[in-house]
Amino acid sequence: MKVLVPGGAGYIGSHTVLELIDRGYEVVVLDNLQKGHRKAVDCEFVQADLLDKDKVSEILKEHKVEAVIHFAANSLVGESMERPDSYFRNNDVGGLNLLDAMKENGVKYLVFSSTAATYGEPENIPILETDPTIPTNPYGETKLVFEKIMKWYDKAFGIKHMILRYFNVAGAHSSGRIGEDHDPETHLIPLVLKTALGIREDIRLFGTDYDTEDGTCIRDYIHVTDLADAHILALENMVSKNRSNIYNLGNGNGFSVKQIIDAAREVTGCSIKTVNTDRRPGDPPVLIASSEKIQKELEWSPKFNDINTIIDSAWKWHKENPKGFNDK
Ligand code: UFG
Repeated sequence: MKVLVPGGAGYIGSHTVLELIDRGYEVVVLDNLQKGHRKAVDCEFVQADLLDKDKVSEILKEHKVEAVIHFAANSLVGESMERPDSYFRNNDVGGLNLLDAMKENGVKYLVFSSTAATYGEPENIPILETDPTIPTNPYGETKLVFEKIMKWYDKAFGIKHMILRYFNVAGAHSSGRIGEDHDPETHLIPLVLKTALGIREDIRLFGTDYDTEDGTCIRDYIHVTDLADAHILALENMVSKNRSNIYNLGNGNGFSVKQIIDAAREVTGCSIKTVNTDRRPGDPPVLIASSEKIQKELEWSPKFNDINTIIDSAWKWHKENPKGFNDK
């Protein structure tokens, strides 16, 4: 089966592309390289933007694409608060262009990269797929809007979708070929590891007065390879059953910011200096997924459910590539 992967040069996209290739899929990556890395991709590649609908349609036709796994999006919560215009344009107008190009070319299957940010401040922990979705930032809203668009494209045009709502993604591929490299980096685990490497002086704790055991925020960390595996399971289930569905993806365990730093100290053997600072606006105190639905229905089971193993896999990547893909 030939799969188009918009955003396949990014962190999660490139890990999914490697898994797809390993399992014998033919893959073509579409990426505008605004955030992605050309060196992260070792398959057919087209530099293009989803805002260019004619080009997207041309690519689907030329490559005889049969399914799409869509990662191309702006994905920083803080940035989305400042630039809702570009978030709605890139994530929703871009997404609509992709769907219209799929409609034009008879492509019927779409796996979509969604987020825990669609839930906003959750009422229940762990969070179920049926819980209320009230995003507290434009990023989460753009993803929720696209989820709704897909629902109606399914009803009217029969384009099936799998929505995967990820929690906190971490780790790197076991081959050492690819890993996480964002500019600017905003995520906790890479920042902690860059502090361990001495690239940063310290790690700031964004709030130590939350209503949690140690006062710092709790998150559910999932390994990027387990996430990639879930995309392929979702694709195969959607195609074989010709149905749409929605799944959370996390490990179901919560770790506080302080616990992550302690685990990183253990893994790296480095002291890692911390500095207490104010809360970061928009951070919910606790986000933990219930992934029971995907475990039960798709028999997904995470191979990396130990936090030290997840951090160790990220540590290997950062140690060997302190400048990310610039070291490749
Ligand atoms: N944190 C710090 N210091 C830092 C960076 C982060 O204390 O320097 C804290 C944050 O406040 C948060 C936790 O570490 O409590 C995790 O933060 P990340 O930035 O790594 O991840 P988020 O939980 O903010 O973001 C994730 C996904 C987003 C998604 C969001 C949903 O990366 O795509 O969850 O809330 F939108």
